[in-house]
Amino acid sequence: MSRPQQEVRLGDLVITPPLFLAPMAGLTHTALRTLLVELGGVGLLSTEMLSARTLPQENPQISPYLKRGPVEHPLSHQIFLGQIEEVAPAVTVLQRFGAEVIDINLGCPAPNVRKRGGGSRLSEQPDLVRRVVAEARRHCAVPLTAKIRLGEDLHEERLRDFCRMLVDEGVDMITVHARLRREPFGRAPRWDWVGKVKAWVGVPVIANGGIFSVADARKCLTVSGADGLMIGRAAAITPWLFAEIAREVYNVPLPPPQINRPAIYQRFVELLIERFAPERRLGRLKEFTLYFSKNYAFGHNMKTAVQNSDTVEEALARAMDFFARHDADAHAALLDRSTDMPAGR
Ligand SMILES: Cc1cc2nc3c(=O)[nH]c(=O)nc-3n(C[C@H](O)[C@H](O)[C@H](O)COP(=O)(O)O)c2cc1C
Repeated sequence: MSRPQQEVRLGDLVITPPLFLAPMAGLTHTALRTLLVELGGVGLLSTEMLSARTLPQENPQISPYLKRGPVEHPLSHQIFLGQIEEVAPAVTVLQRFGAEVIDINLGCPAPNVRKRGGGSRLSEQPDLVRRVVAEARRHCAVPLTAKIRLGEDLHEERLRDFCRMLVDEGVDMITVHARLRREPFGRAPRWDWVGKVKAWVGVPVIANGGIFSVADARKCLTVSGADGLMIGRAAAITPWLFAEIAREVYNVPLPPPQINRPAIYQRFVELLIERFAPERRLGRLKEFTLYFSKNYAFGHNMKTAVQNSDTVEEALARAMDFFARHDADAHAALLDRSTDMPAGR
């Protein structure tokens, strides 16, 4: 692989290394984002998708979707919407809340988002997308980006015209989740189609889908020629992956990440407790654990134990019990450290 591009520039914002956190509902909240910053290697963070319709009524100090810790920079805010009238108020208020990038969701296949006209449903109406993007651009002083899938079926001309239209209307970067709308996560992503998009437009193009290792990152860059990589599920399975890719693919001078899984899980719980009201913690811990438990051959036991817990404290105790049995050395090292350091750090 030739030396990959080291940065993506969006106006005055320089994203380096060009490693992007994917927006993920229920996962990319302030606790996970802070954990990722602590582990290093992320170039641009993201919120989960935010409803443009309700954003203007939200209080960023209180809203669990908008809360943000001091280290969470730079941060992209992703919106989903289905009506042109929703654009200006949402984009205006997000900039007031300190959004450094605003991203429009044009790919989400989830029925509840489609029902409201958003995500992939919106992208099925290119004329409306054109007006939405133009309107967003008019009200947006920060970089404006779009995240798409490949569409309903493989159709080069349609996809090319769609991407060029996005750029003509002022989008500064396109992220391509390299799957068709109906394709499940189990299907191999079509990274070569990211390369097609890259050849059609003059703005940075980011490849997304199926990156779980340094080897995947290298292969995806080689196949797609993308300007950067966006990582979703692996951020919750192996939150240290950004640091590994930053070091090994982008030669960022980071120390090798200290991978103590029990300590990382415990730190995530600490952040949940610090950032969220009690009734908001357990659901988020369960969601994270669905992914983090994939680190272990017997991870389904950890997943079930946490899913069946009634409190965060119970879930953490059960997870630690699992670690003691399945990750004994790391668990012992964590106990050693927590005797001479505050709060298990
Ligand atoms: C739990 C979950 C929630 C997601 N929520 C969003 C979202 O809010 N907005 C969005 O554009 N994509 C969303 N996605 C899709 C991801 O951003 C990403 O495109 C997809 O997971 C593929 O990347 P990956 O293979 O690295 O996970 C979500 C995916 C998952 C697994």
